[in-house]
Amino acid sequence: MARFAFAILVSLGLLHTTAASTPEDVLPSYHYGAPIHVECLNRSSETGEHIANEQDDLQWVPFPACNETGRPLEFGYGHEGELNCTIPFIDDPTYHLLEFYVHNDAPMACRLPARPAPQVHVVGQKPYVQEYIPLVFALAGTLQLSHLHVSTQMNVLLHAKPKHHIHHKDSGVLDSGVAYSTSPLNTKASTRLVIGDALPLRLSVRWFPTPALPKTEGMVEWQGMGGHIYASTVFYSLASFLAGIVASGAYFFGIVLPKRLKGRSLGGATPLGYGVNSGVGNGWGYKPSKRID
Ligand SMILES: *[C@@H]1O[C@H](CO)[C@@H](O)[C@H](O)[C@H]1NC(C)=O
Ligand SMILES: *[C@@H]1O[C@H](CO)[C@@H](O)[C@H](O)[C@H]1NC(C)=O
Ligand SMILES: *[C@@H]1O[C@H](CO)[C@@H](O)[C@H](O)[C@H]1NC(C)=O
Repeated sequence: MARFAFAILVSLGLLHTTAASTPEDVLPSYHYGAPIHVECLNRSSETGEHIANEQDDLQWVPFPACNETGRPLEFGYGHEGELNCTIPFIDDPTYHLLEFYVHNDAPMACRLPARPAPQVHVVGQKPYVQEYIPLVFALAGTLQLSHLHVSTQMNVLLHAKPKHHIHHKDSGVLDSGVAYSTSPLNTKASTRLVIGDALPLRLSVRWFPTPALPKTEGMVEWQGMGGHIYASTVFYSLASFLAGIVASGAYFFGIVLPKRLKGRSLGGATPLGYGVNSGVGNGWGYKPSKRID
């Protein structure tokens, strides 16, 4: 009797899943290195406002074509490394859009498909509606009367949805991402731009296997510097400030911290592979052996 009831429950459950939209586990995932195309909101170069059609649908257009590939910018799933994308000719409208982006009047709002589109459609199921994750390019720079300075060295951080990675360079689905200019205060690191120039974007792409940033044994690690910032360190510096012992804080940051960081090795920066990696740029993490000083 109980068994019979159980069978009914199971079949109800099955009926329920087939009647709903396509279940997660039958949807495709990106294979390692699969191209992920970047598309961005089309904006008016006059006002910076996004362009929508009569149905109020936003207009997404491919990222401008990179001179290096002749194709719009794309990332390879799980693929880490340096990527150059030179937009060969900044025309008048694009120049004005760059002014909006650099001034933060409008975000350079782009998006990535969270997963590849399914090739097969199961009869009786609602067709899969493509999902996207936002990728904002936080482009830093300064406006001058006659030209623009744009910090073209950018970091791109991409997170995969958590899953049990069965093997190295496993497939997966996107969770989130961000792109930002580095060293915005360093004018030497920025590109001077007038209409007609090329915009040489230099992207450093890193992947994370979960939405979380790297940590070990519950401790947050300052991986890029190789040092470990422990909670007590943070508390110590906070306490210093709160007590108004500015001098001791300055001493800590000026002398103690640099000393502590000196000689430390570069940590495993982006552990998609958690130590099973074999070297730099292998797509799943860094060998923790490089020194930074
Ligand atoms: C963006 O919108 C403008 C104005 O509607 C249009 O002229 C332009 O072709 C669009 N850009 C792309 C890449 O489709
Ligand atoms: C990107 O461009 C720089 C020059 O700006 C060059 O040194 C570097 O090798 C290029 N990297 C790739 C991956 O093509
Ligand atoms: C674009 O690529 C072509 C050929 O690869 C090269 O001759 C040209 O200088 C490049 N332009 C820019 C702006 O990088």
